[in-house]
Amino acid sequence: MKTRLFIATIAATAFVSIGAMAAMMPPFGSSGDISYAKGLWQKMEMKGLNSVPANLYVGGPPHGKVREVLEATIDGKRIIVKRNYRGKDITVAKVKANRAKYLASVTVMQKRKGYDPADADWFWVKYAPDGSIMKNKKQMSLAGKVAKGKPVGCIACHASAPGGSFVFNHSKSANAAIMFVK
Ligand code: HEC
Repeated sequence: MKTRLFIATIAATAFVSIGAMAAMMPPFGSSGDISYAKGLWQKMEMKGLNSVPANLYVGGPPHGKVREVLEATIDGKRIIVKRNYRGKDITVAKVKANRAKYLASVTVMQKRKGYDPADADWFWVKYAPDGSIMKNKKQMSLAGKVAKGKPVGCIACHASAPGGSFVFNHSKSANAAIMFVK
């Protein structure tokens, strides 16, 4: 009897601590998120998503002042790539003449069925121009469900996009035409 109770107690404790560990695991920035994002960058390169020019336009914060948005399908999954340009006295004409000089970051959303049903199944990542993954102030890599459950960050802000899609584009007032890459 005693042994059984002992085993049951251990099992219950293990169960609770696994649950607690899962709850403590941040929803983004894990080694799995990072390797997935690195693989995705390679596929973006091959698809031309880091090189094909799109429609440059000016927009409000937090994304770079001048930006361009491209959309494509990779491995059957929808992907939206936003290039964010920053710099002193930046204009569309200046960026057009030298994109590399002004590129500050590349923010990406990829639809992964079943990945995050509560928040429309998007994988979020913020790359530096060289394809490395950018970090927040807490040194967490910005890849995965960024920052699920927090009042600020990709998910919280994009939750206000119309129709629960978490996608702002196609709202003609905010965006220039989006470039579809075949
Ligand atoms: C404070 C609000 C806010 C935050 C935080 C934010 N975004 Fe956005 N994002 C926007 C708005 C607004 C647009 C559309 C405006 C535009 O395209 O000019 C947008 C557009 C985009 C687009 C193009 C598709 C679309 O929805 O129009 C991508 C991709 C994107 N954001 C990725 C990200 C990623 C990745 C993060 C986190 C690293 C992030 N965003 C954080 C507000 C935000």
